Amino acid sequence: MSRVVIPSLVAFGLLLPGYASAAECNASATPARQKAAIHTLMSRMTLAEKLGQLNQIGRQAVATGAAGTQGQSGDDVIAAGGVGSFLGVRGVAETRHLQEIAVTRSRLKIPLLFADDVIHGYRTTFPVPLAEAGSFDPEMAERSARIAAVEATASGIHWTYAPMVDIARDPRWGRVVEGSGEDPYLGSLMAAARVRGFQGRDLTAHDSLLATAKHFVAYGAAEGGRDYNIASMSPQTLHDVYLPPFKAAVDAGAGSIMASFNELDGTPMHANGALINGLLRKQWRWNGLVVSDYTGVMELMHHGIADNRADAGERALRAGVDVDMVSEIYAKDLPQRVSSGHLPLAVVDASVERVLATKCRLGLFDDPYHGADVARERASILTAEHRRAARDAAGRSIVLLKNTQEALPLRKDIGKVAVIGPLADEPWAMLGNWPGDGKPEDAVTPLAALKKSLGERRVAYARGTGLLGDDRSGFDAAVAEAKSSDVVLLFVGEGPEMSAEAASRSSLDLPGNQQALADALAATGKPVIAILLNGRPLSVGKLADASSALVEAWFPGIEGGNAIGDVLFGDVNPAARLAITFPRNVGQVPIYYAHKNTGRPPNAGEKYTSKYIDVPWTPLYPFGFGLSYTTFRYDGLKIASPRIAANGRQKVSVAVTNTGKRAGDEVVQLYLRDEVASVTRPLRQLRGFRRIHLDAGESRVVEFELGREDYAFHDAAMHKVVEPGRFDVFIGGSSEATLSGSFEVTAGR
Ligand code: GLC
Repeated sequence: MSRVVIPSLVAFGLLLPGYASAAECNASATPARQKAAIHTLMSRMTLAEKLGQLNQIGRQAVATGAAGTQGQSGDDVIAAGGVGSFLGVRGVAETRHLQEIAVTRSRLKIPLLFADDVIHGYRTTFPVPLAEAGSFDPEMAERSARIAAVEATASGIHWTYAPMVDIARDPRWGRVVEGSGEDPYLGSLMAAARVRGFQGRDLTAHDSLLATAKHFVAYGAAEGGRDYNIASMSPQTLHDVYLPPFKAAVDAGAGSIMASFNELDGTPMHANGALINGLLRKQWRWNGLVVSDYTGVMELMHHGIADNRADAGERALRAGVDVDMVSEIYAKDLPQRVSSGHLPLAVVDASVERVLATKCRLGLFDDPYHGADVARERASILTAEHRRAARDAAGRSIVLLKNTQEALPLRKDIGKVAVIGPLADEPWAMLGNWPGDGKPEDAVTPLAALKKSLGERRVAYARGTGLLGDDRSGFDAAVAEAKSSDVVLLFVGEGPEMSAEAASRSSLDLPGNQQALADALAATGKPVIAILLNGRPLSVGKLADASSALVEAWFPGIEGGNAIGDVLFGDVNPAARLAITFPRNVGQVPIYYAHKNTGRPPNAGEKYTSKYIDVPWTPLYPFGFGLSYTTFRYDGLKIASPRIAANGRQKVSVAVTNTGKRAGDEVVQLYLRDEVASVTRPLRQLRGFRRIHLDAGESRVVEFELGREDYAFHDAAMHKVVEPGRFDVFIGGSSEATLSGSFEVTAGR
């Protein structure tokens, strides 16, 4: 289908004498002209058309016609101006069809927005965000998001509900997989990188995708790790831990934010005017689009702060939630509230203006199709270049957790390989739980990759067991294959349905009887290399004990099988780190590196100190941890100024040497501790990292610069302050770095 050149708004009859041209309703117009054009448009809209702009319906509603009132079909609702955006419509044919109705049949011809969950790739699925965060390579994450934007926009999508920027310190919560882990510093850099990747430099560009920082806010602090549960925390924790990634996304230009399902300290986020209108809009001076999370508006009734749908709708709109996703409360239950004067029209207008301004920013009034057509879609999707990028991203996101007697990398002339486990040939374990338009037939599983690289004859396969239950009928075959092979590659972990939304687990153990299978294979005496495919930290101490090497591959994307092969055979030297702490068992949760010292710091030799009597208080694997096929030495730590003022800059440098026999990347990490302050401070906080590549024997001096932001925190009165005192610096390859130094901050505030 050739691209229909959409005439400017003159043809839409919106350019009326004496009115600002609505055709200036795009990013190239000055803000003043844009505002005037939008007000021109709004002055001609009915209340129903205004509320229609705030109404987002799902694809299925259009298909079943459920979207309309009085049995209207989805198309009729569009033609009547009753919908402003869609969720989950994919493909240029479908999006163009619906858009054409909006811009030719509706009275005011306002273009639609098409939104979708493009979380870690569109058709080319990349590693899950938690894996990519472990690459400690924001530029790579930006590249992945950029490719996702190129593919999604080619399919007619304008708006993605990503990046998910929720800090998460409880791996029972299934959605840890969607974010960047436990640390606000890493999470903030990843949030900004993904926003830049999705949005590009100019939102009117045809491959720019409006980004959404979600879920605002503190969704990851769900009590008990149980999804959708309440969150409660001190204002200091909210502002120093959970809000920074949102601020980073806003500072990077994120055009949209999604409210979260949870309540925070008694106020459901969909009715939290203090944090939406107050903090986001007033204090941060951000005027983007706030969208509900699915039926979050309706759920205010379940929360018990709204008596009926209209109440819920009014509470959410007044709080600043502009777009109502799928509950259709704004469109169906608010007209009466407004016409009765209960809900001021000005409240509606504020949100309508933000929706229209967003459409302007995307240039949709000039080109409602955002340049999407069949030819572009075909040329953009799943290209060889995109596949290469996905394979590179997966290789840079795989973490080596254990490697005894250099079990890895495997020699390429190794004899026979036994590929065992329920996830060795599971394409969905490559895609994860938010695969976008990713398809299992596109995914390269580990078994497929190993057969291709080693040849069928050298690869034996046995599934061994399932992911759930205790069926051991496959054990014998698996053990037999192990005995007749030179090495066992055991692929275990979680199914993607055990991860992401509504997938909280009360246990962090390997599900089912996978551990029993690992033990049976270890009993053969053959070296077992265990590869984890999972969406959360797991308590895999026993698996590590049964294995010569342990590799964390997460859900690595459609090229995951190839990337795992690259790492196992040394074509890629693993360098990724953990972006989230691995507990020894679920009883330790929450456990994270940036913890406080307490009044009785843990001490194995003293009973009355903060620890457990049945397990060590330390994690199985700490934040920032990961091994390499080479080794690195840190020395020559230099702190430029022994004393600095509160706003002073501090330079820290360290010499890093590759002391091994092969080249590799090292993630050099800098942590800071404020020794004494007016409120307790974490023992360590990540304040800098560099992923560097060093050839064997090569040394490099790595420099960091610290500033006020790195020392500041919210005090008891919620002032963001820097207080005088000694700061300790720790530098190394994980949050347990030992090389340290210190400096004084001499003046506060
Ligand atoms: C879901 C998720 C949210 C997603 C939205 C639209 O419930 O919480 O992350 O973007 O609905 O699919």
